[in-house]
Amino acid sequence: MARPARNKAERITAGVMIFSATCQACHQADGKGIPSAFPPLLASDYLNADPKRAVTAITKGLSGKITVNGKDYDGVMPQQNLSDEQVANVVTYVLNNFGNKGGEFTPAQVATLRK
Ligand code: HEC
Repeated sequence: MARPARNKAERITAGVMIFSATCQACHQADGKGIPSAFPPLLASDYLNADPKRAVTAITKGLSGKITVNGKDYDGVMPQQNLSDEQVANVVTYVLNNFGNKGGEFTPAQVATLRK
């Protein structure tokens, strides 16, 4: 990445590219996921209940049974090798797209959650 995002709009723009390179293979371009394999990011009640869950799923991985929009998943999301800046950007993009409730994470917040 050329330089860090200076505001939320720049974060979202940068996040689009990270999403297509890193998340889309599993969660799909439309964010709908794949039934019983990859949960949706589209209007995800699981995510919107606590947006920090996206940060920790990326930085630490996520496994075990979860329920997203009324459907059960029991898969493994591997930890993704992204910088704090990249995680902040992609999560901010996801929160402001796919019918989610909005919000923003900064690299400093990601660094704290990574600990
Ligand atoms: C290799 C496939 C894979 C990749 C790549 C991946 N995920 Fe996941 N993700 C999963 C799986 C599987 C789960 C569910 C884990 C479970 O069942 O406990 C999940 C769960 C989640 C959840 C919580 C459930 C939900 O749907 O709200 C979020 C948020 C999420 N991923 C975001 C991302 C983002 C953002 C990226 C890109 C930075 C990403 N994932 C990359 C497979 C993946």
